[in-house]
Amino acid sequence: MQATAIAQPNIALIKYWGKRDLDRNLPAVGSISITLRDLFTRMHVAFDEALAADTLVVNDAPDAAMLPRLAACLDRIAGEARPRAHIVSTCNFPIAAGLASSASSFAALTVAAAAALGRELDAGELARLAGQASGSSARSLFGGFVELANVGDDIEVTNICEAEAWPMTVVIAITETGPKPVGSSEAMEISRRTSPFYASWVEQQADDLAKARAAIAAHDFGALKSVSEHNCLKMHSIMWASRPPVVYWNAATLRCLETVRGLQADGVPVFFTIDAGPQVKAVCLPEAAGTVAAALRATDGVRNIMTTGLGPGARLEADS
Ligand code: DP6
Repeated sequence: MQATAIAQPNIALIKYWGKRDLDRNLPAVGSISITLRDLFTRMHVAFDEALAADTLVVNDAPDAAMLPRLAACLDRIAGEARPRAHIVSTCNFPIAAGLASSASSFAALTVAAAAALGRELDAGELARLAGQASGSSARSLFGGFVELANVGDDIEVTNICEAEAWPMTVVIAITETGPKPVGSSEAMEISRRTSPFYASWVEQQADDLAKARAAIAAHDFGALKSVSEHNCLKMHSIMWASRPPVVYWNAATLRCLETVRGLQADGVPVFFTIDAGPQVKAVCLPEAAGTVAAALRATDGVRNIMTTGLGPGARLEADS
């Protein structure tokens, strides 16, 4: 009744922002992401009939705040009458700071819990269960370039290009290490209810997805840069124009964008993307990684740099 799984966070190039069904946590729009290699969450789940309550330990410390969301995810997988569980999570990067820790956590939890119960779930069922816990986590079930599509009343997640088929490096500039002021679920709802730009965002997403899909199929870095930066800035514009406004950026976020623009002017193959947090992710071809990392490290206000290639999807650990 126990298993361990590992999953990497993913970074959306074409973003998921807004929900079409709050109860089932279905996204309003499709999205395309890349799964990272060197950042990970490892989840050990042990169901135990003798336990009176679920427990959660994150990086060696009990975590009561995160437990209800994880327990709800286990209820959906195992039913509410399930045995209680010990959950032990290890994460090698800052949690809740816009680095998609929920994506890797829920992907790993879903895979581990299903295995602990001895249930063989197909990719669709895993995606639905992970996605209900956190929309972006369904994408971490797969490696490389991943698309999450809205299909009828459901979602469908597929790998659209293997990590090895078009290698990329992602340089993450950490500009702040504390937790974010507003969680993405809440911010999405504020956007949906109040932003004058929300409707056109939803309407235009199919176009951006098609452009990104074509750019990935053709390995056309310039085309992927253009549509990814546009899509990212549109998502943040929706938030800035909502009431109350949601602004995740700080001064260093903006300085990192200037750094990336400077590199692009020098012909360096790199583009930026930013999620629900102040960190800047610079996506580049591997030969540019050293130049990009050095330029971001030298940018005023950058506290730390992480560099990673693209990696595989969520999987069971051999020793579980
Ligand atoms: C900006 O997947 O964290 O990173 O489904 O409410 O848990 P919930 O949202 P979440 O949102 C991710 C938002 C984003 C864009 C993206 O990853 O596509």
